[in-house]
Amino acid sequence: MSHLIAPSLLAADFSKLALESDMLNKSLADWYHLDVMDGRFVPNISYGQMLIKCFRSLTDKVLDVHLMIEEPEKYIASFREAGADVISIHVEATRHAHRAIQQIKESGAKAGIALNPHTPISAIENILEDVDMVLLMSVNPGFGGQKFIYNTINKVKQLKAILTERNLNPYIEIDGGVGLQNAEKLLQAGANVLVAGSSVFKSENPTDTIKRLKNVGLKNLHF
Ligand code: DX5
Ligand code: ZN
Repeated sequence: MSHLIAPSLLAADFSKLALESDMLNKSLADWYHLDVMDGRFVPNISYGQMLIKCFRSLTDKVLDVHLMIEEPEKYIASFREAGADVISIHVEATRHAHRAIQQIKESGAKAGIALNPHTPISAIENILEDVDMVLLMSVNPGFGGQKFIYNTINKVKQLKAILTERNLNPYIEIDGGVGLQNAEKLLQAGANVLVAGSSVFKSENPTDTIKRLKNVGLKNLHF
C-alpha cells in the first residue's frame, strides 16, 4: 500500500471551507485530518462536532479526527455520530487509554492513540495490539505552522521495529511540520500516513502539493 496523505484543515481558509473541501475532494488527498482542541489539553481552541458534521456532508473521504482534549472518553460517541471514521485520543489526556480505545472501536470507528513529542513509545507498548493507528506528534500540539522536531524520525524507527517484532501493522501517522522536505525520510523510517497543514494549504498550489506528497518515494520506480 502506498502511503496516505491527510491534509489538516486547521490551515485552511475558514471563510471558504466549502471551496477548500471541494479542492480536497478533487485532489489525491486520502483523508481529511480534523484537529479538535479544547483549550485545556492544549493552549488553543479550534472546533468541535458541528464542523465534523459539516465536512461529513461535503465529502466521502475518510474523516480523521484528532482529539486534543481532556477526558476524550466523554466525547467519543458524539464525534462518531458527527461522522468521524478514525478517532485518535492522546495517551496523556486519559487515565484509561485501553478502555477509551475499546470505546472508539465499539462505536464503529478506527481507533488511534496519539503521543506528544516528549512521551516515550513505551507509554503505549501494552496497547499496541488494540489500536488501528499510532499518531506521533512531531510538534507540540496546539498550533499549525510549527517547526518539525527532528527526533521524530528516531521515534518512528523505534516504533516500527517494535511493531515488526510483534507482527503488528497499525497505521503510523505523523503530525506537525510535515512537508516535501521531510516526507521521504518519514516514509523510509516506517510512517505511512502524513498529516500536512501549512505545507499544503499555504502553498501556491495545494492540489499540486498534495500530488507531490503522494508521489514521494515513487520517483525511483520505473514504469
Ligand atoms: C497541531 C495539529 C496538527 C496541525 C499540523 O496541534 O495536530 O494537525 O494542524 O499543522 P502543520 O502541518 O502546519 O504543522
Ligand atoms: Zn492533528
